[in-house]
Order: sequence, then structure tokens, then C-alpha cells
Amino acid sequence: MKHIPVLLDAVMWAAGDVRDARVLDATFGAGGYSRAFLNAGAIVTAFDRDPTVANDAKQIADEFGSRFRFIQKNFSSMAELNEKFDVIVFDLGISSMQIDEPSRGFSFRTDAPLDMRMSIDGPTVSDMFNVWTVDDLTKILRDFGDVRPARAIAAAIKNKMPKTTFELKDLIHNPRDIAPVFQALRIALNDEMGEVTRALAVVPDLLNVGGRCICVTFHSVEDRIVKNTFRELSTVAGDVRMPIIEKPRFELIKPQTPTKAELEKNPRARSAHMRGVIKLC
Ligand SMILES: C[S@@+](CC[C@H](N)C(=O)[O-])C[C@H]1O[C@@H](n2cnc3c(N)ncnc32)[C@H](O)[C@@H]1O
Repeated sequence: MKHIPVLLDAVMWAAGDVRDARVLDATFGAGGYSRAFLNAGAIVTAFDRDPTVANDAKQIADEFGSRFRFIQKNFSSMAELNEKFDVIVFDLGISSMQIDEPSRGFSFRTDAPLDMRMSIDGPTVSDMFNVWTVDDLTKILRDFGDVRPARAIAAAIKNKMPKTTFELKDLIHNPRDIAPVFQALRIALNDEMGEVTRALAVVPDLLNVGGRCICVTFHSVEDRIVKNTFRELSTVAGDVRMPIIEKPRFELIKPQTPTKAELEKNPRARSAHMRGVIKLC
């Protein structure tokens, strides 16, 4: 299934007027956001760690010429560009193309090697079962999947060392736990929380004054990282004995969630949240 961009109207609303704006699309995917920004007159740099999106990126480059460039790297490396942007946008998590391609091993609906890499470098999930201890796996399943029988499933994984999606699925007794286990392992393998934390730490310096950072999240831990970072940026630490004389450097944009109409068209948008900030000075 081709990826349907999530909360696209909300993202474009939060970005404001983007004619001639320099936009960094940190998560290109199928290029839904990049294309919308280009159609609105922006100049777009797009990152994606997944080399399989190169064809879509080439199509957009052919269409929009020098107004678009694609960089196949992790977005946490964005500061290396040494450039400033008017909009930096993140649409976190995995794309429909990644979930729906059986050979990537993200889905428990088809049998495939347990891979789960967003890029094609580095160890797969089944390689990591040799590295992660029962304690590591328990923490991963609890923190990123809220899995109740985390320790029992972690122990079963270390005992059986599953190599395929179906071997992993067969270790999970309660069908309710299957999707959360797969999600938790994917998040840990791809260091998704580390990536977003490192990127958000450099965003304030990469934005021009008046520039905006917009994040779409799908997971409560990820959303908490974004919410707390944006809250810290938009408040000035005060002390009861000291008057606050500094002004905040950022202002919050009103958070958005999908409308009923969007959810009817795209049920995969159901847990999405959009948050944003504007750089004031
Ligand atoms: C939800 S999709 C983005 C969809 C896109 N907004 C669209 O409209 O087509 C997320 C994409 O971000 C990429 N991605 C996730 N984490 C990344 C990271 N740390 N660095 C670069 N790309 C990343 C994934 O490979 C995936 O293609």
C-alpha cells in the first residue's frame, strides 16, 4: 500500500506561508510532505535512512529540479549540513511501504526473516537477540510496547532465539501482546527515541528566527519526548525570588490530532499527534 501522508493539512497549517521557505523534511517516506511543501513553493531538503525510497525521491527531483534534494542518512545528522531552515518537519515511525513489504520483517501478518531495520545497515532484530539480555529485552518490551508479560516473553525469546516473524509470534501467548512486542523491538533496534532526542537537541540552532519545527508522532513515549522538549523551549525557568526578565525563545503551536474524516480515509492515522513550535528570537 502506498503511504497516505498523516495529518498533512495540520502540518501545512502549522507551517504557515512557505513560499520560498527552506524546508527540511526529516522523514521523506513516500514524499507526501515533501511534495506538498514543493507544491506550496518551498525549497525542500529531505532525509530518509531507508535506501528503498530513492526511486520516489528521484521522481520528485526530476519534477522539481534544484528546489529538491534528498539525503540518505539518519536525521540526527542534520546539523552536519551547517544550514538554517524555516521549517523542520518530522513524521516519525515507519511508513506503510515498510510495514507492507513482507521481506522487511516488520509485520507479524506474513512470515519472513526477523529483520526490522529501517536502513539496510547494521544488525537485524534476530542478530540483536544474541546481544540483548533478558533484562534488556524486558525493559524494551515494557518501555516501548507496554507489554505486561514482558519478562516471560523476553525469557522465551532468549530460550528459542526466533529467526522469523512467525517464530516470534508463536512465542507470544496472548494475541493482544503481538503488535506491541513487534513495535517495541522495532523501536529499540532502530534507536528511534535516541534519534528524535538527538535531532530535537539541534533543531533550535538550525531554525531561522520565525522558523517552525513540526512533529507528528505515533507512540506515547515519542510524543512525550516531543511535548517535553517543546514545553522546555517555550518556557523560561523562573524562581520565586527572582523576577522573570527573559522572554521565551519559542512559542507553542496548538497541537492537532486527525479529524474523523481523516480517520475514515486512513485508519493508520489513529494514534497520530502533531505538535509544533515557532522560534521567536
Ligand atoms: C511515517 S514515514 C514518513 C512519511 C512521509 N511523511 C510521507 O508523507 O510520505 C517515516 C519515514 O521516516 C524514515 N525514518 C524514520 N526514522 C528516521 C531517522 N532517524 N532518520 C532518517 N529517516 C528516518 C523511515 O525510514 C520512513 O521512511
